[in-house]
Amino acid sequence: MTTTATPKPGTPAEVEGIAVTIDGVEVTVPKGTLIIRAAEQIGIQIPRFCDHPLLKPAGACRQCLVMVATPDREGNVREMPKPQASCTMEVSPGMVVSTQRTSEVADKAQHGVMELLLINHPLDCPVCDKGGECPLQNQAMSNGRTNSRFTDVKRTYPKPVKISTEILLDRDRCILCQRCTRFQAEIPGDPFIDLQGRGGGAPGGADHGMLPQQIGAYDEGVLGFAGIDGEVREAAETGQMVGPNGDPALLSGIAYTVGTAELDATGRPFASYFSGNTIQICPVGALTSATYRFRSRPFDLVSTESIAEHDASGSAIRIDHRRGVVLRRLAGDDPAVNEEWITDKDRFAFTWQALPDVIQTPLVRDEETGELVAASWSEAIALAARGLAQAADDGGVGVLPGGRLTLEDAYAWSKFARVVLGTNDVDFRARANSPEEAEFLGHAVAGVSMDVTFAGLESAPHVLLVGLEPEDEAGTIFLRLRKAVLAGRTSVSTLAPFATRGSTKVRAALVTTEPGAEATTLAAIAAGTGDHAELAESLRAEGAVILVGERLAQVPGGLTAVLELAKATGARLAWVPRRAGDRGAVEVGLLPGLLPGGRPVTDAEARVDVASAWGLDADAALPGEIGRDHAAILADAGSGELAGLLLGGIDIEDLPGAGESERAVREAGFVVQLEVRTSALSRYADVVLPVAPPTMKAGTFLNWEGRPRPFGQVFATSARSDAQVLDMLAEGMGVDLGTGSLEAVHRELSELAAWDGARQPAPAVEPSPAPVPSAGEHTVATWRLMLDAARGQDGEPYLAGTAHRPVVRVSPGTASSQGVADGDRLTVVGPLGSVTLPVLVTPMPDHVVWLPLHSPGSSLYRMLGVGSGGSVRLASAERATNGEVIR
Ligand code: SF4
Ligand code: FES
Repeated sequence: MTTTATPKPGTPAEVEGIAVTIDGVEVTVPKGTLIIRAAEQIGIQIPRFCDHPLLKPAGACRQCLVMVATPDREGNVREMPKPQASCTMEVSPGMVVSTQRTSEVADKAQHGVMELLLINHPLDCPVCDKGGECPLQNQAMSNGRTNSRFTDVKRTYPKPVKISTEILLDRDRCILCQRCTRFQAEIPGDPFIDLQGRGGGAPGGADHGMLPQQIGAYDEGVLGFAGIDGEVREAAETGQMVGPNGDPALLSGIAYTVGTAELDATGRPFASYFSGNTIQICPVGALTSATYRFRSRPFDLVSTESIAEHDASGSAIRIDHRRGVVLRRLAGDDPAVNEEWITDKDRFAFTWQALPDVIQTPLVRDEETGELVAASWSEAIALAARGLAQAADDGGVGVLPGGRLTLEDAYAWSKFARVVLGTNDVDFRARANSPEEAEFLGHAVAGVSMDVTFAGLESAPHVLLVGLEPEDEAGTIFLRLRKAVLAGRTSVSTLAPFATRGSTKVRAALVTTEPGAEATTLAAIAAGTGDHAELAESLRAEGAVILVGERLAQVPGGLTAVLELAKATGARLAWVPRRAGDRGAVEVGLLPGLLPGGRPVTDAEARVDVASAWGLDADAALPGEIGRDHAAILADAGSGELAGLLLGGIDIEDLPGAGESERAVREAGFVVQLEVRTSALSRYADVVLPVAPPTMKAGTFLNWEGRPRPFGQVFATSARSDAQVLDMLAEGMGVDLGTGSLEAVHRELSELAAWDGARQPAPAVEPSPAPVPSAGEHTVATWRLMLDAARGQDGEPYLAGTAHRPVVRVSPGTASSQGVADGDRLTVVGPLGSVTLPVLVTPMPDHVVWLPLHSPGSSLYRMLGVGSGGSVRLASAERATNGEVIR
């Protein structure tokens, strides 16, 4: 039998085929294919533990042994004397492979390896989290002996070892396959665990020769060896790391300095934003999560494929639930998007959808007590419909839906604003934004799909990051960029005030840029002069990409300049927002100047197009004036010019001027809120209508690429999606919105997909120079860390413990003028108050300070009253060691 295997997508394009014979079947595979992969192509399963298609071969477990014969110079096919690891050996012409199916030697070798692996492996399958989905358990059945010849006592360890607050290690179960360590070193570049004590402990230690090799963190306290706890703590606090016996650890694999910023919230050396993947790829139950450990058996779980809601990557996940409760989330396998990896936030932050503050029934304001009280749907809808109709007549209703909606829900919001409320006063951007950004989105983002993709990033010769820290703001992009960089295909540059840990791991060339100077720097790159000539040349290479984050909206002229840079160099441009619903919101026109599909509201033809899809009389024109944006809506609602507000999922802490925004909502006339959980704004709402979280509805997120990411409903409930609630509300106001079902929405969306008419004009805002702080002041640089004080992480303390420790970064010059060093505490003072954090001295411009935007103890909009580009003073400092106040 002869078979020709199709190269897997993503396999290096090796055109030269190699013909080999495996168990009597001839197969032709691309050059470089491993024997184990070639066997898979013809349906032959060789048992394996350490092998993983996305990791480099290691040959660590020896479970995949096969017999291999190759032709010698004379063409005689000669078998190698010993079995070979099929996961490390590439095919060669004329090779003949005999697996356990056809070779007794291979079969016996596999049985022998399995017997050795099981010698010390506990027989705790009935209580092990992996029991029922365990490759060791399965392969022990398929390729192991029926009974054990081992009669001694099995080796045990104190357990579990806490690698972090979230990841636990049971060393007795570990089979030393090194999938976990290889994942951490190769994929995210966070080698926080490694194989330790190789050869029996570190030489010179009392335990040398006694300790078997095992997986552990570099921190001795984490490894759990007896002895020097105090020293270990000091080592962790001072950033030193230690090996199994307190000796200097294996530092060669660490690509960055371990200092204050590399500690997690508990003070341990920071693990990784991607550490949960090690649990999933561990072929035994050695790595478990504090969240899921001992909670369930895999065979009790019901699984639903879904899409992660925490960023704009659109990562595939699997949601496992039992009796109405989500117990865990796993990475889905989607080669086009997240491959097999997800962030820890996508994996562990799911409890927010089932907390006690999830709204179960509609709430209406009791006129006598002023409190929100439970009401029936009919009562609440009638009240909301009456109030909104009145407000629309009295001055208008501003619509702020937020950026976490599915495409279908966002569409319903867009249609509701235009058809029911007759307004373009609608803006999804519940964060710092600008009119220039609205123009940019209408001109360059809406209606532009899949121009830049994950695969495009992987093949791009150069990627420029502007206003974007992928490791914090879009983890899947970070992983793909790192993969491309390590493969030698891609180089990266970043416009940022300093080299972050994430940009170091993608070897990004730093174009040091103070907050506010991005526009002028982009213009200089477009001019291609001086220092920027090389970067401009890189962007001219075919396939080069510019990734621009939503933060650039805060820099006047920034988005204008980035468009001009793309035009000048020919680089492709993609916008990467932070929230899962942002890209879909742009697509359906949740902006004051935009209708669905990138149609400008000011274009009469576009309005007729939309009106016809919406079944409206074209003469009953849709509003044709550009409406109020987010800031104007809040300002005019607060002053009474707008008589009402319709609010979606908005977190007040995301809004610059959080206090003012809250005051505006409080002063607003009639307020209706559609929310999953009660929020700070609920207390000002007249009617609160509960809407379904992602597990309780089906829908589609549009990711940053513009790729639709549909997901199914996990639980059958009576919870209603935003689209259904808005449909009911419209009916209460005498309008048939037609968004009560996904089918109806999809039908209209497909009608509105293509628009080949004029687009919104490009923004034309002159770049303004970076703000120059007055004497004694500093300019704030800031963004949100992946794990911070977000409401999406609520109810997940184990995950919160793995968050990056909030620090304030200052330059060496500033540190010296302030008399502070790493770890000292520095107070930063803004117009509204102050924030005090440990210092991390960082090579960066002297008059810039960096703090996290919304981490515990560092919520800048509320605590300082400024965000990126704002001015602050550095007020006081304390010594780290003894708390002595030095100023
Ligand atoms: Fe392999 Fe799991 Fe041990 Fe890591 S902990 S080496 S993944 S068995
Ligand atoms: Fe081949 Fe482990 S799978 S050595």
